[in-house]
Amino acid sequence: MDEQEIVKTELRWGMVVAAAVGVIVAVIIVSSFVLAMHPPSHVETIDPTTLSKSREFAEGNLGTRLNPDGSVTVRIIATQYAFVPRCIPVPQGRPVTIRITSPDVIHGFIIAGTNANTMVVPGYVAEVRTVFKDAGDHLMPCHEYCGFGHSEMWSLVRVVAQSKWHNDENGRASCETSR
Ligand code: CUA
Repeated sequence: MDEQEIVKTELRWGMVVAAAVGVIVAVIIVSSFVLAMHPPSHVETIDPTTLSKSREFAEGNLGTRLNPDGSVTVRIIATQYAFVPRCIPVPQGRPVTIRITSPDVIHGFIIAGTNANTMVVPGYVAEVRTVFKDAGDHLMPCHEYCGFGHSEMWSLVRVVAQSKWHNDENGRASCETSR
């Protein structure tokens, strides 16, 4: 191979790499703007030191609540080493918004067998919106190492068929009332 041919080959491969980078950048731009794909946790801050006194994440307000429009909001606290509440009922086939935050360290939130997955960072409210298609129980383990009790940190998500769903007059539901 003479000098000129080597330069030509290098240029050719350089163009292939440039084209690949261009395609990747284009996919990122198109997917973030056109398809509106953003990280699941929107940026919403909260004071992690006063969660129990906050209106939204006070103990009596945690868990599942049916909204007037038929959707459901679930509020969860992830703390060393438990999710509160331990069992979370959600209705099958209805829009569910899960809001979760931490008073101490970073935890991970995932509902096994679904695409619900986010980090839970103190000072921020993570929000996940989803619809559960099939009734049944899902394990909800912490997936971010958070200390000695990390492996013991999990809750259960119970997807309840519409016919078996029960909530009280305030829209509150628990795994005891819906099974
Ligand atoms: Cu919480 Cu690991």
